[in-house]
Amino acid sequence: MDKFRIIGGRPLEGRVQVSGAKNSALPCMAAALLTAETITLHNAPYVRDIITMRRLLEDLGSTVLVPELRTLKISAHKIELFEAPYDLVKTMRASVLALGPLLARFGQARVSMPGGCAIGQRPIDLHLHGFEKLGARVSLEGGDVVARAERLRGAEVYFDKVTVTGTENLMMAAALAEGMTTLFNAAREPEIVDLADLLNKMGGRIEGAGKSTITIEGVRELGGAEHTIIADRIETGTFIAAAAITGGHLDIVNCSPQHLAAVIDKFRETGVRIDQPNAFSLRVHKADHIGSADVTTLPHPGFPTDMQAQYMALMTMAEGTSIITETIFENRFMHASELLRMGARIRTSGRQAVIDGTGHLMGAKLLASDLRASASLVLAGLAAKGETVIDRVYHIDRGYEKIEEKLRAVGAKIERFR
Ligand code: EPZ
Repeated sequence: MDKFRIIGGRPLEGRVQVSGAKNSALPCMAAALLTAETITLHNAPYVRDIITMRRLLEDLGSTVLVPELRTLKISAHKIELFEAPYDLVKTMRASVLALGPLLARFGQARVSMPGGCAIGQRPIDLHLHGFEKLGARVSLEGGDVVARAERLRGAEVYFDKVTVTGTENLMMAAALAEGMTTLFNAAREPEIVDLADLLNKMGGRIEGAGKSTITIEGVRELGGAEHTIIADRIETGTFIAAAAITGGHLDIVNCSPQHLAAVIDKFRETGVRIDQPNAFSLRVHKADHIGSADVTTLPHPGFPTDMQAQYMALMTMAEGTSIITETIFENRFMHASELLRMGARIRTSGRQAVIDGTGHLMGAKLLASDLRASASLVLAGLAAKGETVIDRVYHIDRGYEKIEEKLRAVGAKIERFR
């Protein structure tokens, strides 16, 4: 199993390029199941979850070609199977994104019910409730969700909670339903807007993506399209934290600053100086002083839960005490116990963590538990005195493209070893 070895204490310096957004590429790949024509996606990140989604699409009968790095040509004209098996769903929950498109286009879908994961129970009841509102019959058989419908019918769907993949699944299903669908209390993440852009290029009629009410007028058929995936706002935020925590100076290019306004605001509040030279780049200046600031994670446009762990790492190095409140997932402080091993001062209770910044960390042997937790451990290792070894870095490979190479290119002392 791969590990990272990091020698900390070196300010990062230079230019780093952001990859395409994993959490947009995944639903956009699933959307290819809605049509018999070819979908071409550019700027798809070269990360493990994309490879898993590719495998799922191929298992269903699609062809996925990679004419050049980060470009995918997907054709679902000969789908023979309507099932996302347990083995795939257990490695990547986003496999549930096949449910909506298969049900809408073929009237049947079988997806293994995702179990819990490190950060929470993460049920999909809101997805299933939405499909039932569109007229599907949904049942649980042998641990699998089985959904059937002659043709889905447009309806009004109220989400009790804001759900990102729930909104994406219902948007894709409603795109081929008969009549009008309105989604209320929908998620507003930039990835939702990116998926809606693709669906509209395929001939869909979606309005209001990015707002909490989305309307979808169903069509009989969708066609092929070509689309460029947006930049990854969480990878961008992670690099801002990397510059800040090492006292470095970074130019972050190929990013979309407008997609992480809450993150940039919060970092500025702690004293990190961030300029925006143009619409596609950020400049993080050397921070002489990092102050503490409380944060509460919220659905977009609030502070994203996927930046919480990285922010906690920074707060361990800050002056003063900060409180982090995690409102999205019930168990997303796994990284705290690892940071304690580096000498951080953190007390967690339920969905709150209190961090007394110490201004220094010591290198240690650490264990990654999930994607964003592993990113926070890498940040802590970059700032710490001495050597840090992080085990189970397969978690980070799920969502960051060659992160150790990108960091090494801006001066980090980090290596991957088996
Ligand atoms: C998406 O997960 C992202 N994944 C997650 O990123 C991200 O953390 C999350 O949204 C929140 O922003 C992808 O886009 C592939 P939710 P998703 O449905 O859609 C509850 C990463 O690090 N809920 O918005 O699964 C749920 O338990 C990953 O890249 C229900 O109760 O999250 C949670 O508490 C991790 N019933 C809350 O809603 C449902 O049917 C929000 O979850 C659905 C969700």
